[in-house]
Formats: sequence, structure tokens, C-alpha cells
Amino acid sequence: MTETATVPKIPTLPDAQTVTEVTHWTDRLFSFRVTRPASLRFRSGEFVMIGLMGDNGKPLLRAYSIASPAWDEELEFYSIKVQDGPLTSKLQHIQPGDQIILRPKPVGTLVHDALLPGKRVWFFATGTGIAPFASLIREPQTYEDYDQVILTHTCREVAELEYGRQLVDSVRKDEMLAELMGDGFADKLVYYPTTTREESPKMGRITTLLEDGTVFRDLGITDFGPENDRGMVCGSLPFNLDIKAILEGHGLREGANSEPAEFVVEKAFVG
Ligand code: A2P
Repeated sequence: MTETATVPKIPTLPDAQTVTEVTHWTDRLFSFRVTRPASLRFRSGEFVMIGLMGDNGKPLLRAYSIASPAWDEELEFYSIKVQDGPLTSKLQHIQPGDQIILRPKPVGTLVHDALLPGKRVWFFATGTGIAPFASLIREPQTYEDYDQVILTHTCREVAELEYGRQLVDSVRKDEMLAELMGDGFADKLVYYPTTTREESPKMGRITTLLEDGTVFRDLGITDFGPENDRGMVCGSLPFNLDIKAILEGHGLREGANSEPAEFVVEKAFVG
């Protein structure tokens, strides 16, 4: 009888990346940064599958928009924490030095190539749907392509706006970004945060504020339409459908990578 040599099993994580930073924004929201695979090329606004090893030894992966811009040497993600969510119940406990799985195959429709040239680009987000726009407002092409970049973010409570608010502040002040994106880029960026369940300077769903004309009055826009305006939409399914109907009501058509038009839509990661 021959003896079979047993090779000690070394646990290996496929496509492992190391967590470098974690920030908890509220008891339901956190962001984190991880190392970037040298081979990963993506367009700002795209998403990848990330996750952890499940209890059954199989990877547990979900789609996450990359919140960092394409030029950043690390990758940033912005996530909800769902206490009984299969992935986020565990992911919310990651610490710097831990590893996550990242499949380096970026995809998505919220990319500049899917839009025809225009004067203004609108980024419409609710909740964690701001993530792809966190990437796009740090992307030089955004400011090369448009005269005005309008980021709307609707959340239930003020604290849920904080990630976006700090990001917009840091983008406007960042000297390296100014060098990358050209002088005056910060003046092109318009931030329009709203809350629905807690008092703040601007209350209401962005859909309501678009329908009753408040947004256009606030921003001094009198010519919203397919000639000038382009949109990217990222939120819950009902939100996406409502914004889509509003944009179509103004004559904008939905586009895709293969057929650019006036707006594009993607569902935010949930759970
Ligand atoms: P509301 O508080 O009126 O439901 P959620 O946390 O449920 O994903 O919602 C995030 C934000 O998006 C909330 O402010 C919520 O407003 C808003 N919202 C949810 N559904 C829609 C929709 N269909 N149209 C516009 N805003 C929406």
C-alpha cells in the first residue's frame, strides 16, 4: 500500500484585495477603500462584483459601483448595512488589513460613452445610488464634456447626505483635481441635496421638485430638454422609473453603451 502525501491546505482567496480604510457614516451607511488590482481598467461610473467568502466556502458577491474615479490608485465603495443582509451584515465589520474578493470585470451603463454630447449633465441619486457619481464628479472628462454638472441626492435624513456633502466639498477644494480638470471646474459642479423625512434647507423628493419646477427655479434653468440636458440616474427601482418617466416627459430618450442618447439608468445596490 502506498501512502498518499497530504498537502497542507493554505486558504487562498481568489481575486483578493486588501482593505485600506473604512468610514462609518451612520448606523446604516459606510464607505471603504481597497487596493486596486494592477490590471484593472474601468470607466468612471462602472460597477464590479465584490464580496466575501461565504460560510459554505463559496464567494458571496454583489454588484457595487466603484465610487472612486478611474485615475485613483485605490478603489472606493459606498455601502448600506443591512443587519440580516447576506453580504452587508458581514461586510460592515471589515477593518483595514482585511481582504475582500473583487472580480476585476467592470461593467455598467452610467458612463459618458452612453450619452450624446450636451450642455448640462444631471446625476440623479437616492441613498447609496450616489456611488457612481462619486466617481464621475472626480473624473476630468465630466468637466471637459459639460458646462454644468448637477448632482442631486435625495435621502431620508440629513446624516445620510454627509458622504456626498464631504465629497463635493473636497472635490471643490482639491488642488490636484483642479490641475487635472482645469481651472474653473469647481464652478461647474452644482450640488442639490434634499431630504424627505428630516428638516433640511431643501425638503422633498427630487421627483416632486422636478415636477413642480422648484429645481429649475432654484438653479435658474429655463430651457431643460433634449437639446441641452443629459441625465444619469441611480437609485431604487421605483425612483429610477419615476425619474425615467419625468425625463421622457421632457423629450429625453434612454441610451446605452451601444446606442448613446440623452439619459441612462442603473439600479443602486441594495441589501
Ligand atoms: P421618501 O422618504 O419619501 O420615501 P430609501 O431609503 O427608501 O431607498 O429612500 C431613499 C430616498 O429616496 C428617500 O428620501 C425617499 O423618499 C426617496 N425615494 C424613494 N422612492 C422614491 C421615488 N419613487 N421617487 C423619488 N424619491 C424616492
